[in-house]
Amino acid sequence: MTETDTKKLLKRVNSLEKENQNLREELSSFKQVFSNMKEKPLIIGSIERVLEDGRMIVSHAPGNRVLVPPNELLDPHAGDQVTLHAQSYQIIEILSRKIRGHVAGMELIESPNVTFEDIGGLDAQIQAIREVVELPLLNPELFEEIGIDPPSGALLSGPPGTGKTLLAKAIARSSNARFIHLVGSDLVQKFIGEGSRMVREVFTLAKENIPAIIFIDEIDAIAIKRTSEVYKGDREVQRTFMQLLSELDGFADTQGIMFIAATNREDVLDPAILRPGRFDRIIRFDLPNEEAREMILKIHTRKMKLENVDFKTLARKTEGFSGAHIKALVTEAGIKALRERRKSIKHSHFNEALVDITDKEHSVKDYIYT
Ligand SMILES: Nc1ncnc2c1ncn2[C@@H]1O[C@H](COP(=O)(O)OP(=O)(O)OP(=O)(O)O)[C@@H](O)[C@H]1O
Ligand SMILES: [Mg+2]
Repeated sequence: MTETDTKKLLKRVNSLEKENQNLREELSSFKQVFSNMKEKPLIIGSIERVLEDGRMIVSHAPGNRVLVPPNELLDPHAGDQVTLHAQSYQIIEILSRKIRGHVAGMELIESPNVTFEDIGGLDAQIQAIREVVELPLLNPELFEEIGIDPPSGALLSGPPGTGKTLLAKAIARSSNARFIHLVGSDLVQKFIGEGSRMVREVFTLAKENIPAIIFIDEIDAIAIKRTSEVYKGDREVQRTFMQLLSELDGFADTQGIMFIAATNREDVLDPAILRPGRFDRIIRFDLPNEEAREMILKIHTRKMKLENVDFKTLARKTEGFSGAHIKALVTEAGIKALRERRKSIKHSHFNEALVDITDKEHSVKDYIYT
């Protein structure tokens, strides 16, 4: 490199640094402008349609629509809920997003990958849910012939990690139904009307995807008894709950849609949720007994290379464990074997894992009930 080359390069570095500095200043002034904009009262609207040129039709009050300029930064889609600047109607942020038919906070699974063979020790619960859910979905004519209304939904109640979500997924698969999964606490929203809007959208989505199972996990988050000590008197939660009840009633006779809810706080549930035509069948789950624990151990080790593992002893030693705990134990044992660079997992690895897991939670029992 000649001396002039070096000089040229140095000059270029200098000018780039300057440019960088200028851009930084510009960016920070934009950030300031933007944060000022965000602080002003904003209008809430939802995007009705995105035109070919990127402009958007946004409705922000009944019958009130505006055409807003494109926003490449946020890339909003039809159905998104957004905030708009009060004067310019520029979109400031996306509050909640509906992605290709998915409502925010909700998941649609075409066919869950859980089968009844993956579930241990829940034969009675499997049979009960097949009667309530699978039969009406697969053979609705049987109910018609005999002249009774098919059940519309089931409540799965029991301690954490006992296979409630697992069973709901398996029944969706065995009934060839789409699985729409939402979580009660996700429906508790900061914005007024947002929770009930989400409930409405979920039911609309189910209607577009028949046969479908709507699974509401943690239903206690919205269906909470007003007299319960955990009830916070939140009007918005109450409103979402009312919307849920009204959707349930409206859909009770719709063929091809079933409701399943899950809770581990049956004691605080509002009895309105359990009325006929809603979640009228209760299926209870308990911690697995010794025999069930052995089955769950076998299920979760199915794909593992084992060496002299005594399942009977392990089942005896895991008193108080839920299915989820057993899965954690199996994984932990596998990790121990890996650390020793072993090709297979021995009974001693399970014993070590058992000590770790029991220690970690002081006592597994305490952990389960908190
Ligand atoms: N009966 C069971 N058979 C096999 N695996 C189980 C069983 N119960 C739980 N598990 C394991 O534990 C994991 C968690 O279970 P699941 O999510 O179904 O619990 P849950 O009852 O829905 O708990 P929560 O109330 O916390 O939502 C499962 O993914 C599975 O690996
Ligand atoms: Mg669950």
